[in-house]
Amino acid sequence: MVFVGPSGCGKSTLLRLIAGLETLTSGEIVIADRQVMDLPPSKRGIAMVFQSYALYPHMSVFHNMAFSLNLQGVSKAEITKRVEAAAKILQMEHLLDRRPAALSGGQRQRVAIGRAIVRNPDVFLFDEPLSNLDAALRHDTRVEIAKLHRQLGATTIYVTHDQVEAMTLADKIVVLKDGEVMQVGAPMDLFNMPANEFVAGFLGSPKMNFFDGVLTDVSADNTKAKFTGDGIKTKNIRLVSTEKSPGDSARLGIRPQHMQLDPKGPIKGTITLVERLGTETIVELLTSENTPFRFASPDAPDLKVGDEACFAFDATKAHLF
Ligand SMILES: Nc1ncnc2c1ncn2[C@@H]1O[C@H](COP(=O)(O)OP(=O)(O)OP(=O)(O)O)[C@@H](O)[C@H]1O
Ligand SMILES: [Mg+2]
Repeated sequence: MVFVGPSGCGKSTLLRLIAGLETLTSGEIVIADRQVMDLPPSKRGIAMVFQSYALYPHMSVFHNMAFSLNLQGVSKAEITKRVEAAAKILQMEHLLDRRPAALSGGQRQRVAIGRAIVRNPDVFLFDEPLSNLDAALRHDTRVEIAKLHRQLGATTIYVTHDQVEAMTLADKIVVLKDGEVMQVGAPMDLFNMPANEFVAGFLGSPKMNFFDGVLTDVSADNTKAKFTGDGIKTKNIRLVSTEKSPGDSARLGIRPQHMQLDPKGPIKGTITLVERLGTETIVELLTSENTPFRFASPDAPDLKVGDEACFAFDATKAHLF
């Protein structure tokens, strides 16, 4: 389960409530059929990995991983067994004698994860564990965490503000905003059927385009409507907000990947920027009413700044909010 949302939306607070580092004012927290609200963090069967891994600099990797087990009075033989097993899973058996100062950022984060694994928790809690790593290492460690999760099979709650991490790691995503749950579901369900404009705009890169206008026709069951605005006229499109009537204002949402160059297409813009990434081309444009929007293409279309371009779009993948 991944909690995702912008900074300050309450992801860490929710995780800290589950961990027992904050006190609940109402509601229940249940782990494996057991109410845990009155239990201290150490009795909840959880292990938490933070963004700052806070290793003990004067201790070896082995002793950093063994530390909490030592405190619990676990036998020496059992500690060695668990630390070695965790080191094997994390492929750092050869690093057990090193001090943290002699490790890379990614290796340090693996020690922090190892410290959680040796405790054999029912639930792993990760709070932005990759944000101190550079882009390449972040990707590698993300893949490792995904594999680790499959290997251990333990319930894992993972907090991030990065929608790519959320999409790739989650079985289920919870999108949060200002302390409220916006939507819960499988990554592709949220991507394809966002329940509101916030979720639609948050998931996906480049972001979904939004055009202002009015509804011209609304189906009797309030699930489809036609839209006019920003020089665009559409056929029937999925209507997300209910209880709407013709004439109500609305926003048309179209992902940059769901548009195609088409001289007869209804969306017209003037190009302000062309970004060629090699794997795809992202074109930024302005409509005649100065609404910015983007077009993303896996090809390298022959477009340059100042040109006008027209686009058709896939009406089955568009949304009205
Ligand atoms: N101890 C506290 N007392 C009062 N308000 C707090 C406390 N801790 C956090 N907050 C506020 O609660 C809100 C949620 O904070 P939280 O740390 O959960 O956000 P977040 O989603 O983890 O953000 P980020 O991505 O920046 O880590 C913020 O507005 C924050 O200022
Ligand atoms: Mg946080």
